[in-house]
Amino acid sequence: MYRVTLSFEDLPIRDDLRGMTPYGAPQAPLPVALNVNENTHPVPDEVAGDILDAIALALRDVNRYPDREFTPLREAFAGYLGAGLQREQIWAANGSNEVLQHLLQAFAGPGRRALGFAPTYSMYPLLTRATGAQWQAGTREDDYSLSPESAAAQVADAAPDVVFLCAPNNPTGTPLPLEVVRAVYEASRGIVIVDEAYQEFAPRDIPSAVTLLPGRERLVVSRTMSKAFAFAGARVGYLAADPAVIDALRLVRLPYHLSALTQAAATAALGHASTMLSMVDEIVGQRDRISATLEALGYRPHESWTNFVLFGGVDDPAETWRRLYDRGVLIRDVGIPHHLRVTAGTEAESTAFLEALASIDSEA
Ligand SMILES: Cc1ncc(COP(=O)(O)O)c(C=O)c1O
Repeated sequence: MYRVTLSFEDLPIRDDLRGMTPYGAPQAPLPVALNVNENTHPVPDEVAGDILDAIALALRDVNRYPDREFTPLREAFAGYLGAGLQREQIWAANGSNEVLQHLLQAFAGPGRRALGFAPTYSMYPLLTRATGAQWQAGTREDDYSLSPESAAAQVADAAPDVVFLCAPNNPTGTPLPLEVVRAVYEASRGIVIVDEAYQEFAPRDIPSAVTLLPGRERLVVSRTMSKAFAFAGARVGYLAADPAVIDALRLVRLPYHLSALTQAAATAALGHASTMLSMVDEIVGQRDRISATLEALGYRPHESWTNFVLFGGVDDPAETWRRLYDRGVLIRDVGIPHHLRVTAGTEAESTAFLEALASIDSEA
């Protein structure tokens, strides 16, 4: 067996990467995995067949590099988002993490600064620092909401090159009104990224920040197929922005970064958007059931417009996490004192979580 003798810190690694820890949500093979906000429903059979056919067709040309501009996929995303968007306004990559990385490579980097409002998605600081830029954590209210006044004042004060607005916010589930986006845009001189990874789980009548794009050339709206679309394993994220932003991203992407197989699979899946999204209502129902049951058990669930629930009132999160793990249920300790986060799964998975938690409480 290969013996590990060195730490990466012993290597001549970049000074600004020393002391950092990689993203590492546990990938344990437990029967009930509710820790990374996936859609736990499989891709519907009728769609899976079409996706396989599309991949089979693409495989015939896999000796050639793929379409560098992933044109049909960008057209499909423009059609899905609506709001009059054209394919020139769309970009995509291997998960929205890579989309965000492209944005930071183009608009952050050494000597620059990105700001987000903590607690927020844990990859923002990591991606920012990996481009050599500095991360600055802004603050929220005690209930994790963000007012237009406070957000704009913090942005005006810090004058960052990139602002992250996670809407709704991970790991708290908190909605982010469009007034906050407007106010932050006015207060900033840099790129404003609205990360709508969970937008499909918000109430239907809530408009997306894509409606704010006209006339705002520094605004970017990021999305993913990993959550509502049940496509996390395919790694497909995308964004909508001014075509000039897309031109900037072409400078930093690797040539042919989206494989022909990924493009084929995602385009086929988007052709069945309504079937792919048919589980969203069911997941939202389970989310609300989880919140109501947690409250009845004496916990404090936070309002959520996502497919997960952050709940407070946990005496010892590490211990509760471990006891759930021992019962075959994997959830997430996001490092907020007295809180844990759980993804809304199928009815059976959500029931397994709630019953396991109730059984721990009855032992205490
Ligand atoms: C807010 C937010 N943005 C982006 C992502 C990245 O998703 P992906 O890279 O799978 O598109 C996640 C994943 O959990 C997320 O919670």
